[in-house]
Amino acid sequence: MNIILLGPPGSGKGTQAMRLVGEFDMTQLSTGDMLRSARKSTTGVGQRVAAVMDRGDLVTDEIVISLIEERLSDDLKGGAIFDGFPRTLAQADALGALLDRMGQRLDRVIEIKVDDEALVRRVTGRFTCAQCGEVYHDETRKPVVAGVCDVCGGSDFSRRADDNEVSFRTRLLAYYRDTAPLIGYYHAHRKLVPVDGLAPIGEIQEEIASILRRS
Ligand code: AP5
Ligand code: MG
Repeated sequence: MNIILLGPPGSGKGTQAMRLVGEFDMTQLSTGDMLRSARKSTTGVGQRVAAVMDRGDLVTDEIVISLIEERLSDDLKGGAIFDGFPRTLAQADALGALLDRMGQRLDRVIEIKVDDEALVRRVTGRFTCAQCGEVYHDETRKPVVAGVCDVCGGSDFSRRADDNEVSFRTRLLAYYRDTAPLIGYYHAHRKLVPVDGLAPIGEIQEEIASILRRS
């Protein structure tokens, strides 16, 4: 099964993808995570990608499509959860062509709906375990023991350079300008299923899981 998690910055795509991986044995393909890893390189491309991401703008279609193409060539047994990809109509067309070429199909596009004001609070309060990537929040999702990751026991946490209010506004604008048209695109392809992203994390997980079990 292959699914897309579609939603604005901070809607919970990464949080839900990590939970679904555990339950359905699928592979999370997050272009944001891939790009954060690529930007660590000191090459010219790495540095240019870092500047674009910190501003909150989109990286070029060519770069992200090639990252996805590379990962799809691996054998993803239970299928893929696309997190943060596609983000433009050109990326959506490229994904369709890649899946066709591999004799696979896209099963569902889960649209996670959240109000803009909730998004800014989520993004500015987010922190992540540097060891295993578990996502936390200063108010809504604290580790059970302060300073210790619930999942791996690590004690090193990090915050993203683009999780400030100025970059967030640019990311939100990019979402409405370039990504929101995909809602109509996948609705027309009869793949779209909306979920209420303002519900508690566990309830959203249950709702998505039940959609996938019925797919
Ligand atoms: P990316 O890393 O994909 O960032 P994003 O889309 O802005 O989304 P986020 O990762 O910020 O949010 P999320 O939806 O994963 O939410 P999360 O689960 O963490 O992309 C970063 C940048 O890379 C882009 O700006 C762009 O430059 C570039 N890029 C990436 N992909 C690209 C592409 N395809 N094309 C071009 N450029 C690309 O949750 C957020 C917070 O909310 C957490 O603290 C969490 O604990 C909390 N939370 C989650 N769910 C709930 C809930 N139900 N209730 C309360 N709190 C919740
Ligand atoms: Mg994410």
